[in-house]
Amino acid sequence: MLPLKPPFITLSLFLSPLFQPLTGAASLISTGQTLLLNDIPYYVPATPFATLPLPSPLQSAAFAGGLAPVTVVGLSAGNAGLSGLEQAISGFGGDDVWNWGFGQAILVSYATEQKPNFPSNGSLILPGANQSSIVSFFPSKNSSSSVPSGPYFLSTSGSLYQPLRLYSDFAGAFTQPLIRASDSTYAALPANIAGIQSPAVGVPSRLYYTRTSEHPLAGVRLGVKDIYDVAGVKTSDGNRAWYGLFPPASVNAVPVQRLVDAGAVIVGKMKTSQFANGETATADWVDYHSPFNPRGDGYQDPSSSSSGPGAGEGSYPWLDLSLGSDTGGSIRGPSQVQGLFGNRPSHGLVDLTGVMPLAPQLDTAGFLTRDPAIWVAAAKVLYADLPFYSQYPKKLYTVEFPTSADDEADAVLLAFLAKLEGFLSTRATALNLSTLWTSTLPAGADPSLDDFLNITYPILISKEQTMLVRDPFFAAYAAVHDGRRPFVDPAPLVDDLKNSHLPL
Ligand SMILES: *[C@@H]1O[C@H](CO)[C@@H](O)[C@H](O)[C@H]1NC(C)=O
Ligand SMILES: *[C@@H]1O[C@H](CO)[C@@H](O)[C@H](O)[C@H]1NC(C)=O
Ligand SMILES: *[C@@H]1O[C@H](CO)[C@@H](O)[C@H](O)[C@H]1NC(C)=O
Ligand SMILES: *[C@@H]1O[C@H](CO)[C@@H](O)[C@H](O)[C@H]1NC(C)=O
Ligand SMILES: *[C@@H]1O[C@H](CO)[C@@H](O)[C@H](O)[C@H]1NC(C)=O
Repeated sequence: MLPLKPPFITLSLFLSPLFQPLTGAASLISTGQTLLLNDIPYYVPATPFATLPLPSPLQSAAFAGGLAPVTVVGLSAGNAGLSGLEQAISGFGGDDVWNWGFGQAILVSYATEQKPNFPSNGSLILPGANQSSIVSFFPSKNSSSSVPSGPYFLSTSGSLYQPLRLYSDFAGAFTQPLIRASDSTYAALPANIAGIQSPAVGVPSRLYYTRTSEHPLAGVRLGVKDIYDVAGVKTSDGNRAWYGLFPPASVNAVPVQRLVDAGAVIVGKMKTSQFANGETATADWVDYHSPFNPRGDGYQDPSSSSSGPGAGEGSYPWLDLSLGSDTGGSIRGPSQVQGLFGNRPSHGLVDLTGVMPLAPQLDTAGFLTRDPAIWVAAAKVLYADLPFYSQYPKKLYTVEFPTSADDEADAVLLAFLAKLEGFLSTRATALNLSTLWTSTLPAGADPSLDDFLNITYPILISKEQTMLVRDPFFAAYAAVHDGRRPFVDPAPLVDDLKNSHLPL
């Protein structure tokens, strides 16, 4: 045992750095702050959206942490009176980020030449409110940029911040909630709320955004499957070693960029089964836990590989759209079992640069959403090169569809088919693929389609992903880890996959 050193040595060691000259300035960066307003959690970013002269009546508003909740209401010449304000505020109740706490102070932004004519005492009780609101005015041309209506936090120096409302990812659908860090990069959301292994996700008010032909997805809250690169953020591909090994992406994947350019707001990266291979919950999900499918008892398999997008869209009314991928069913499976609109598009409709490949011959980018109108708007953006037809198709084929309503599920399918036939003014034709194959097969091919295709799909994706993803990954990992191999989840066997109807 070493003898104890005399206390003065410890003391001098401890104090000595304090007496040395500083050799470099500390790097101190604010990452924003969190607040509770009427018990609802908000994240306030470090960078203000705009700066206003602090209206003097607001100095009596309630501030916490240097910030006061306020509501901005833009009034135009047409609705620039008290009734215009009342009408605007009455529409805010439908927004999930705004609440009456923001109504304590109302900043009326007016584009008109003259300040609107309001009660002069600067305070009034709006219909639906149990509190009086301080009302103040600013001409919209005075702010540093035009300030859309909605909820804000205002600092004592006039900085105006757009808060994000924080929601719990209780379904475990996200890998990394995100905020926009600059014009072109994203960063981890530096905020959380109570929950075990369920990070908070922050969403902006929908009141800020107006969809236009230039920005048809303005304000659409978007989740991105974690095989797509997002600038400034590490991609995981569902694998811990991959996440640890590679640096953050420097640019968005092409499909992500198209959606962002159209106004979509990325709120986070979402879980994928590892390397977008088929995985069954929960045994195969070793590196990360499978998300929870909210249907049934809440413990159903969310299907894979767009598992996070499927579970998230199924679970969260605050999430509008998720970007998934489909090679052999990775959107079709999760959208089916979570009751969503999902699509596998025709192959080759959008460049997949910046997206992890499974097999480029079959990989596609598509969506999962609860809202078919958002789906259409997003599809027009993502598949911008595809002509959109103004007429509905007249040919309708069914494959393996029931012909009689033997059970409840068959009855639902047949009722749907009847409605679709009515809508398209056509009749469905049942297609038997094996019969069709038998009558049209090329010379020398196996007369059984199942035998002919056999294990074509698993062989194709295995060979392609081995070459494009596994080999370079193993080599890069070995180079910095003494030649060792990274851990990779066990993949289900080919025969299991074929028999289980599991998508890949
Ligand atoms: C301020 O104006 C509101 C709305 O006209 C009115 O209800 C309130 O009594 C006024 N308060 C004072 C102190 O004048
Ligand atoms: C106002 O108070 C009533 C009665 O307490 C309550 O039902 C209502 O929700 C309150 N409205 C708001 C906007 O807080
Ligand atoms: C708006 O700007 C003009 C000049 O640009 C200034 O005279 C005026 O005081 C400003 N108004 C407010 C409310 O700050
Ligand atoms: C397709 O036709 C074959 C041969 O007639 C039959 O055995 C099979 O059950 C049919 N498949 C479907 C899905 O109807
Ligand atoms: C593929 O064909 C081989 C040889 O006939 C057979 O042994 C195997 O079971 C088939 N596999 C599948 C998945 O159909």
